[in-house]
Amino acid sequence: MRTKLVAGNWKMNGNLATNQALLGTIIPRLAPLTRARYAVCAPFPYLAQVQDALRGSNIALGAQDVCQFDAGAYTGGVSAAMLAEFGCRYVIVGHSERRTVFGETDEVVARKFGAAIHHGLTPILCVGELLAEREAGVTEAVVSRQLDAVIAGCGLAALGKAVLAYEPVWAIGTGKTATPQQAQAVHAFIRARIAGADRRLADELVILYGGSVKAANASQLFAMQDVDGGLIGGASLAADEFIGICRAALDAEETVRA
Ligand code: 13P
Repeated sequence: MRTKLVAGNWKMNGNLATNQALLGTIIPRLAPLTRARYAVCAPFPYLAQVQDALRGSNIALGAQDVCQFDAGAYTGGVSAAMLAEFGCRYVIVGHSERRTVFGETDEVVARKFGAAIHHGLTPILCVGELLAEREAGVTEAVVSRQLDAVIAGCGLAALGKAVLAYEPVWAIGTGKTATPQQAQAVHAFIRARIAGADRRLADELVILYGGSVKAANASQLFAMQDVDGGLIGGASLAADEFIGICRAALDAEETVRA
């Protein structure tokens, strides 16, 4: 059975003081919400700080990117082994900002995914279409291409050790959330596509939705059959918003179990 997961992606935000304040508020308030799962993906320099703060809590630590190489002359790179050493359980790979701003190709994303798996991290693999691609009616083709590159590079079974995130690029940071029906349609498409190769893997695969999720819209999104939680950008930086989204995940989880 899939358990709801809410992961905050802080992106390039925060500092020592604001991180401490944010975590100081969310850690005690999420502590009683035991039936869903939570994570925060912090910028590299703050991993040690956040690792320390999260110790003993029910919130896992994640990073936002990983180098595809293991070690060596890769200036600026951060390896999967380094992330593991700082207690990361998750790492986001293939976020649309990495793809569009930093030029990461499907092949590079697949190699990063493989590096994460190899070092025991759970990759949160992001897929999603641009607005022009949605308007051109090629959403499913784009998402399939992004997924297929990872399956070709790492094998289908590797998806069993990962989390997927459907993040339509037009919904990221724009305040324009996909409707629950739009999200559900793509999530169901992804699950069905994987089920074609391995039904059990598809049934157990956690697929998050990301793109302008807020406390006010989270419940409707999480009520969808194939939406297993959220990858949260802006709203993960505001304690009350993030806690509200986590509560929505918990409520959805309890509804499913009831
Ligand atoms: P927003 O929640 O700010 O739209 O960002 C979504 C996202 O990119 C999470 O990875």
